Amino acid sequence: MSEKKLHKHGGKSSEAILDAKKVLSSIKLGEGDVFMDAGCGDGFISREASKIVGADGKVWAVDRYSQSLDILREKVREEEIENLEVLEADLTQKLPLEDEKVDLCLMANVLHGFLYNEEVDQVIPELLRILKPVGRLAIVDFKKIEGTPGPPISSRITAEDVNSALESRGFQSLEELEVGPYHYAVVLIKK
Ligand SMILES: C[S@@+](CC[C@H](N)C(=O)[O-])C[C@H]1O[C@@H](n2cnc3c(N)ncnc32)[C@H](O)[C@@H]1O
Repeated sequence: MSEKKLHKHGGKSSEAILDAKKVLSSIKLGEGDVFMDAGCGDGFISREASKIVGADGKVWAVDRYSQSLDILREKVREEEIENLEVLEADLTQKLPLEDEKVDLCLMANVLHGFLYNEEVDQVIPELLRILKPVGRLAIVDFKKIEGTPGPPISSRITAEDVNSALESRGFQSLEELEVGPYHYAVVLIKK
């Protein structure tokens, strides 16, 4: 009997192929927002987000892979970023965050792994819990196009896959966007 190999997604950064500023302006992160970068990796998007949300906002950079978080912790120290908190946590478990505090949660290059590993039902209820009633979830993922950077085509997901996975789990799709040559975004709101 053949067993499906689990998708491994620790230790990877998309910084070379994804423009954090473009992503964050496209998904309309605003000053004063509470932002969560779920599966932040080395946090290159979290650091950019910290500039946008400013002193009245907050960034939660969440990942379970401590080596990536160490890179981010070092940058946070060097750049004296005060509104960004690094949280080492497993997104498939209960998160040590309060209910309904987050305006916008981003999962960049993360959801395809959760779908492939069949972990979505462990992850989404926690996101619904921590998002404000009008909170938004932005999924950025790799376009499913042969020959472009990203995971194997068989584990990539389309915007339609994102919508069908999340609209049946408490979200309503708002818009689909182009955020770079290799990436799309889907923005959803809590139902
Ligand atoms: C492909 S990387 C993307 C990193 C970053 N968002 C980027 O675009 O560069 C996927 C990230 O999700 C994290 N991840 C995967 N499963 C996780 C889980 N159950 N809990 C927390 N983080 C997880 C991995 O450790 C990894 O850093």
